Amino acid sequence: MSKITIMDHPLIKHKLGIMRRKDTSTMEFRALTSEVAMLICYEATRELPLAEIEIETPLAKTIAYEIEGKKLCIAPIIRAGLHMSDGILKLIPNAKVGHIGLYRDEETLEPVEYFCKLPPDAQEREFYLVDPMLATGGSACAAIDILKKRGISKINFLCIVAAPEGVERLQKEHPDVDIFIGALDEKLNENGYILPGLGDAGDRIYGTK
Ligand code: PRP
Ligand code: URA
Repeated sequence: MSKITIMDHPLIKHKLGIMRRKDTSTMEFRALTSEVAMLICYEATRELPLAEIEIETPLAKTIAYEIEGKKLCIAPIIRAGLHMSDGILKLIPNAKVGHIGLYRDEETLEPVEYFCKLPPDAQEREFYLVDPMLATGGSACAAIDILKKRGISKINFLCIVAAPEGVERLQKEHPDVDIFIGALDEKLNENGYILPGLGDAGDRIYGTK
């Protein structure tokens, strides 16, 4: 079964409180999406393997560390995931980025794929798939299907707000994918929105509603 990590850091709780408010501006919401993603990524990368290397400081030789193992790839689900990847790239600036375009059909709530562009060496990389919202789980599961079909085997999923329904579906369909969640909310409403949630993440990031 996959590992689920729910954030309990005060900075994440504070910033999420501002994101949830209905009167938070587009500019502030966008910046906070990136900041919270960076903090979730800090937790999600906690177990990356390290190698010891010998270096020279200006005063002496010493042992330092560098991240070893698979190279990383950040994969935002367009649109709303894009601002998460901005924040994450501040922590891991040499990661590659693969984009997955999906939208949720408003009638059926089923994800529709419209774009996928991954780095040429994607199969050799560990993936951090990012999307602020895990609601029914349809988009996350479809994005993971897309990655697995292209031969990617090590995938983590990072989101800012999740519904229990989405977590359950993701764990059931992809038990090999570890999940990192900013906050686990109560439930979905009849339109597939997370309650209490923060509304439509894409619309709030881009000011489209
Ligand atoms: C939102 C969100 C997720 C999806 C989550 O995107 O960013 O991708 O809904 O819902 P699900 O778990 O029920 O699939 P949306 O489809 O609204 O597209 P957008 O990012 O272009 O606004
Ligand atoms: N997508 C969003 O952006 N928000 C939700 O609450 C559910 C899906």
